[in-house]
Amino acid sequence: MARSKITVVGAGNVGMTCAHWIANRELGDVVMIDIANDGNLAKGKSIDLMSSAPVMRFDLKIVGGMDYAMTANSDVVVITAGVPRKKDPVTGQFPSRDDLVRTNQKIVGEVTREVAKYSPNSILIIVSNPLDAMCHVALHESGFPPERVIGQAGALDTARYKAFIAEALDVSVRDVHGIVLGGHGDDMVPLPRHTSVAGIPVRELLPEDKLQAIIERARKGGGEIVGLVGVSAWYAPAAGTVEMVEAVIRDQKRVIPCAVYLRGEYGYKDLYVGVPAVLGAKGVEKIIEMQLNDEEKAMLAKSAASVQSVVGVLGY
Ligand code: NAI
Ligand code: 2OP
Repeated sequence: MARSKITVVGAGNVGMTCAHWIANRELGDVVMIDIANDGNLAKGKSIDLMSSAPVMRFDLKIVGGMDYAMTANSDVVVITAGVPRKKDPVTGQFPSRDDLVRTNQKIVGEVTREVAKYSPNSILIIVSNPLDAMCHVALHESGFPPERVIGQAGALDTARYKAFIAEALDVSVRDVHGIVLGGHGDDMVPLPRHTSVAGIPVRELLPEDKLQAIIERARKGGGEIVGLVGVSAWYAPAAGTVEMVEAVIRDQKRVIPCAVYLRGEYGYKDLYVGVPAVLGAKGVEKIIEMQLNDEEKAMLAKSAASVQSVVGVLGY
């Protein structure tokens, strides 16, 4: 069987950590692409990662640079390229939300056109923020069917939620089961009634105020790291992304909450919304429609409205 090939565009914090864990799990050969230092950032990081292989014992080809010809015939392409929201050094002002959306739209648009040209059959996993809107950009620019353009957000938000529950109860993370839906971060839709520890409903184990504090912490999980570190998180975002890459490469049929393009499911049309999807070799192989109660439906509606308002800035 031919070896799989995975491209990661954007070799910054999230991208390099994705490459690291993709290699460590031997999911396939890795190509890292970044325009920084005329491609030398990605080239240097790929040489460094490749040099760790004899010790870490992964047996793969790892290359990097800025020439998309290297990415040809990738099975999966992870897009993490973008600029973070930071103060303008001259004016001292933060860019408006709409300016940031347009800047990353341009970057994700350019990247998508290149990867689609060289890997027309690939599956795209989008990470760049604002996530749900960038999924629309990648879908539009690639011309791929929606099954092959998937956004990473729910895997990360769910991981944070489970990690905080395990920490609060001092139990193994392996025994915590749960899922969160909706948009990334502030727009997340928690589902505590579907959260359990080894099958025991979480509400039998944690008082409501503690559970709500955990939900709030997961919702603001990105901000907590920015506050402590000064830049946004990379380990958990990359872990969520690599979980999706692995599901596709190994055709695992994993059920993972992802930003997927809805065509009537949950009552939404032509919009990326975070819901549970079965991920396998074909990308999104099925969207699972959960039965939500009124409160959950209202939260999902708020989340979808917020995605819709950012998508409005894109001008498609
Ligand atoms: P970073 O700043 O460390 O890395 C971004 C990289 O993109 C930089 O190395 C930059 O040179 C590169 N880049 C910019 N324009 C490019 C282009 N046209 N072609 C190729 N590379 C280009 O940022 P970090 O922390 O790695 O985050 C990356 C993106 O992922 C950001 O948009 C961030 O907000 C988002 N993010 C999304 C998460 C999610 O759950 N969806 C979680 C964490 C981050
Ligand atoms: C995070 O949630 C900022 O999206 C990024 O860590």
